[in-house]
Amino acid sequence: MDDQKRTILIIDDEEPIRKVLNTHLTKEGFNIILSAGGSGIFDTLSQNSYDLVICDITMPEVSGIRVLEYVKQTFEIVPVIMLTGLTDINIAIDVMKKGAFDYLMKPIKKDDLMNIIGKALVHRDLLMRNKELELENREYQNFLEQKVRERTKELNAKAMELQKAYGLLKSMNIQFVNVLAETIEAKDHYTRGHCNRMRHLCVELGALAGLSPEELEILEYASLLHDLGKIGVNEAVLNKEGPLTEEECCHIKEHTLIGEKILQGIPLMESVAKIIGAHHESFDGAGYPRGLKGTEIPLSARIISVADLFDAMSSDRPYRKGLPLDVVLEEMRRVSGTQLDPEIVEIFISNRVHLLQKETELK
Ligand SMILES: [Fe+2]
Repeated sequence: MDDQKRTILIIDDEEPIRKVLNTHLTKEGFNIILSAGGSGIFDTLSQNSYDLVICDITMPEVSGIRVLEYVKQTFEIVPVIMLTGLTDINIAIDVMKKGAFDYLMKPIKKDDLMNIIGKALVHRDLLMRNKELELENREYQNFLEQKVRERTKELNAKAMELQKAYGLLKSMNIQFVNVLAETIEAKDHYTRGHCNRMRHLCVELGALAGLSPEELEILEYASLLHDLGKIGVNEAVLNKEGPLTEEECCHIKEHTLIGEKILQGIPLMESVAKIIGAHHESFDGAGYPRGLKGTEIPLSARIISVADLFDAMSSDRPYRKGLPLDVVLEEMRRVSGTQLDPEIVEIFISNRVHLLQKETELK
C-alpha cells in the first residue's frame, strides 16, 4: 500500500454511524467523505475519486445494492464494503455475489473494520497495478507492432530496389547476349534473324513444356547462343554453297563442343553450356557430338532441336525460299521419335507455336 492519504466515502442514512466511522477513520489517517445517501449519492460518487466505499445496505430512497451496482459498473477497481444489521444477513450474502468486497455487521467492531479496510485497499492496489501492467503491455505491444510495420515498409522498399536493379541487370545481360548472337549470325550469312526467332519459339515451347521461370531464363540464353561455337568454324566452310565434304561436315559439327567450351567455367552459364553442347543430339541416339539418347539429352536441348529444325526449314535462305508450313510440319512429324523428342513435337504442333514466328518477325 502506498503512503498517499486514502480517501474513503462513507454512505449511511444514520448519522451516529457516520460520526463514529468518521472519528475512527480520520484518526487512522484516512481522508473521509460522508454521505447520507439519497438521490444525490450518484453525483457525490462521480465528482470525486475514492479508494474505497463503505455503504449501508438498508437505506430509504436509494438502496445500498443500487449504490454497489453503480460503483462496480462505473469504477471497477474501487472496493465496496457493505454495512448490515443482524436481520440483513441473507441480503449481505447476496451483495457479496453482486461484487461487494466484504460486509460488516452492525454494531461495527473497530478491529474488524480496520482489518477489512486493510484487505480491501491491498486488493484495490493489486487490481490497480494489474490494470497499469495491462496498459503498459498494450502500449508495448503497439510500439512493437509499429516497429514491425516500419521495418516491413523499409524491407519492402529495399526489395523493390533490388528487384529493379536485378531487372536492369538482366535486361543488360540479355542485350549483351543478343549482340553476341548477332555477331555469330554476321559470320554465317544463311542464318540472319535465326537466333532471335529461336529465342521466342524456345521460350514459348519451354513454358508449354512446364519449365520453371529459372529454367526458362537458361533456355532463353541457350537459344540465343546455341550456335555460339560457329565463331570457331572456318567462314568459307560455313558459307560454302553446294555439298560439303566429309571433312567439312566434321568441322561444322565441332561448333557444338566449341560453344560448350567457351561458356564452361562462366558462373551461371554452366547449364547453358551443357544445353549448347547437346543441341544437335538426336532423340534416338544418332546425333552428335556424344550420341546421347532420349532423356539423357537435356530437355532444353531437345526443345532447341525442335525449334531449330522448324526455323531452318521454314525461313528463307539466300539460295532458296522457306518451305511451305505443311511440308515443314510433315517433316517434323516424320522425324518425331528419331531426330526429335516426340512429346516436344506434339506440344509444338498442337499449340501452333509456329504462329509465334510470324509475330516475332513483325517486331
Ligand atoms: Fe547448331
